[in-house]
Amino acid sequence: MIYIKKKIPQLKENLVTNQNIFLNRRKFILGLTGCVLTGNTHNLNANTINKKFSNAINRKLTSYENLSRYNNFFEFGTTKQIWKQAQKLRTQDWKIEISGSNLSQKIISLEDILNKVNLEERIYKFRCVEAWSMVVPWKGFELSTLINILNPKSNTKYVEFETFYRPNEASNQKQSWYPWPYKEIITIEEALHPLSFIATGIYGKPIPKQNGAPIRLVLPWKYGFKSIKSIKKIRFTDTKSKSFWQTIAPKEYGFWANVNPKIPHRRWSQEYERDIETGNKFPTEKFNGYGDWVASLYPNLEDQSIFY
Ligand code: MTE
Repeated sequence: MIYIKKKIPQLKENLVTNQNIFLNRRKFILGLTGCVLTGNTHNLNANTINKKFSNAINRKLTSYENLSRYNNFFEFGTTKQIWKQAQKLRTQDWKIEISGSNLSQKIISLEDILNKVNLEERIYKFRCVEAWSMVVPWKGFELSTLINILNPKSNTKYVEFETFYRPNEASNQKQSWYPWPYKEIITIEEALHPLSFIATGIYGKPIPKQNGAPIRLVLPWKYGFKSIKSIKKIRFTDTKSKSFWQTIAPKEYGFWANVNPKIPHRRWSQEYERDIETGNKFPTEKFNGYGDWVASLYPNLEDQSIFY
């Protein structure tokens, strides 16, 4: 009888997959290559995805088509189908006015900003206060990088962001009862948090107008209305002012707006969310699943007001 002696493979320690990654391999693969799994590869480059910040996802990426055809952009209308109207927005030579906290007021061009930052991609879950959600591969840079470049004085407590006011391009801005321009405010600690992101693209392409071209905020642990689009002004201040939505409906849209399944909107529950692509329902996660990252920003966790 002939015995064939099989060679036992000799694997070196450094070639063995980390146990943590092995045990969580499905989540890991979905988080990093959901684009490939759904067939939406669109210029998304696995090498520029910041893996550290993209792992909180256990869902498939939403397709480019759906991300860019289902939008909230009230300047252009109150329906989700505003992508055609939004094409009127002129985004060439975009400039942003910077002011406050003893900074002399200055205008900075988007081009200037882009010359000073390194772009990366991050896959974030995005949860609207209207109880729908999606998974977006953003391209952009950390907000803290921009703040460090602008270097506001240490008395800064809040950062305010404002969108354009151009009724000739954005027809709903002719409705004078809205407190235009759209405005949002966050604390300086939130603004400096590594998850706070400035997006200039999705799926590796320039951000579509309807998604907030050419530059918008993305705060994945908060309801989507905090993630202001098409930023034209940034102001550093030590006093808290009112946002667009707080002025319209203060009892429905709070300052903090941190995602929380336990705190219902006044008119609907926040316990579940609907994926805009599949229609599947998922239980809402506190801080939209980013609690490990951001809960420390809110040490008084039991205080319900931080979610409102
Ligand atoms: N920013 C401006 N300037 N105008 C808006 O109407 N809508 C907000 C937020 N930022 C809005 C805005 C709301 S309610 C949501 S849910 C998100 O943008 C929607 O972003 P999306 O259209 O890219 O999904």
